[in-house]
Amino acid sequence: MTWPRRLFLLNAARLAAASSSLLLAKPSNAAGYPFSLGVASGSPLPDSVILWTRVAPDPLDPAKTPPLALTLRWEVAHDGAFRKIAAKGTAVAAPELAHSVRVDVRGLEPGRWYWYRFMLGDAVSPVGRTRTAPAPDSMPDSLKLAVASCQHWEFGSYAAHRYLAQANPDLVAFLGDYIYDTRELIGMDM
Ligand SMILES: [Fe+2]
Repeated sequence: MTWPRRLFLLNAARLAAASSSLLLAKPSNAAGYPFSLGVASGSPLPDSVILWTRVAPDPLDPAKTPPLALTLRWEVAHDGAFRKIAAKGTAVAAPELAHSVRVDVRGLEPGRWYWYRFMLGDAVSPVGRTRTAPAPDSMPDSLKLAVASCQHWEFGSYAAHRYLAQANPDLVAFLGDYIYDTRELIGMDM
């Protein structure tokens, strides 16, 4: 069974329990990989990071995402194989927010790497790597910062990001918009 179908049945069961008179819309399209947009993290503090993803089997066709609130699972681990879990929980991807999800993970240790991922049904997201900020009373030997700014997706392939990743910075600061695409340009003062 594909993930929207399974989730549809789960949601249908919950809603039916709340009200037997509800009529439910069936998801309109076949499932695709729900994490086609990948994952991201940011805003590190000594004890927390923000995790992000968005459920979008086809980002150019929102109709392929069921118009339902979808419950994702997330995990943060000390290792890339997820043998030692540091934190985990669930998050709701709501249609009002285009099924984007933002998780504020607390209780982490300062100045260390973590790996994270999301899950929806049987689908598992790409694994991301993130790092908490140093402890407030610490003085790290070095701090390597990278800066990026407004990026127009249609106008470049952004190979500089490969170099940026190779440089292994402690933090990437986006001083402008993370990305533009055509839809975002409508009505925007450039
Ligand atoms: Fe900008």
